[in-house]
Amino acid sequence: MKKSEVVRPLLAGRVHSPRASGSAFAPANIALCKYWGKRDKELNLPVTSSLSISLGSLGAHTKVAIKDGPDLISLNGVALPADMPFARRLSRFLDLFRETPGMGYSVHTESTVPVGAGLASSASGFAALVLALNELYAWELDRTALSILARLGSGSASRSVYDGFVEWHAGAQADGMDSFATRMDVRWAELRIGLMEVSSAEKEISSREGMQRTVETSALYEAWPARVADDLVDVKAALEARDFELLGRTAESNALTMHATMLGAWPPVLYWLPESIQVIRTVWEARTKSVPVYFTMDAGPNVKLLYMEKDGALVREIFPAMREVNPFG
Ligand code: PMV
Repeated sequence: MKKSEVVRPLLAGRVHSPRASGSAFAPANIALCKYWGKRDKELNLPVTSSLSISLGSLGAHTKVAIKDGPDLISLNGVALPADMPFARRLSRFLDLFRETPGMGYSVHTESTVPVGAGLASSASGFAALVLALNELYAWELDRTALSILARLGSGSASRSVYDGFVEWHAGAQADGMDSFATRMDVRWAELRIGLMEVSSAEKEISSREGMQRTVETSALYEAWPARVADDLVDVKAALEARDFELLGRTAESNALTMHATMLGAWPPVLYWLPESIQVIRTVWEARTKSVPVYFTMDAGPNVKLLYMEKDGALVREIFPAMREVNPFG
């Protein structure tokens, strides 16, 4: 099934003349129970459900308008070359909404995510673009439909249409109409995320490529769906009981297991740098000294720490270069 076949019924009866522009914000998010592997590459339908925390005011502010000629896409005030992979991906996504093939869009995004923090720009970028298009065209879509549209841009973007804790339900339908995110009714004001930048270099293997290779070639991938199912139960129990130890342990082990499936792929997929391992070892050492800090990692070398506000001073002392995020602040 093509993306356009999903978009058409979603927007049926909602085509109005566009406003001058549409603007919106969407937060970045970090998965505590990861999405790794698609059952449908075209529609970004996942093999498993996943669960994330949005990063409060860290994310993308996007303004979209219609223009003549080719798309103009800028990030933090700098126009992106049209052949840059991210600009090409956005333009291909915008093809789904063009009224005539010749019309263009201007898309200006200001990102509040620290440059090189290792936070996927695609999740907040595609979610903010979809929310801004919803304003531009006055679609008045509900969050479920917006999450589905954001997913068509990037899987993890389906979770960035909400703040707080968010679950993306895998769904089972071929058209993906049951594969969208919902916001969880949990506020955990004491939770903190620490961003440890290890490298700001562009990753060599995109998450798209990395997950596809893992699904197709890694014998370890077979164990992944059952593991995610167990971890989702534990993460939800941890959120319900405000059990930080259970949350940290489950999120850390879930991330390590995801990376283990990648190592079993051929050619192998390894996003870690020596510095990543140094941070991991320092986290483990901190725990032997009774500092409750855990980590998670995505498709890159940077490490994200999880800790509670009360331990912030100790964690900052151990990781002076860390940037602290208060997801509910
Ligand atoms: O949405 P994508 O294609 O960038 O994939 C994101 C994959 C991970 O960040 C590694 C995990 C996740 O659930 O966000």
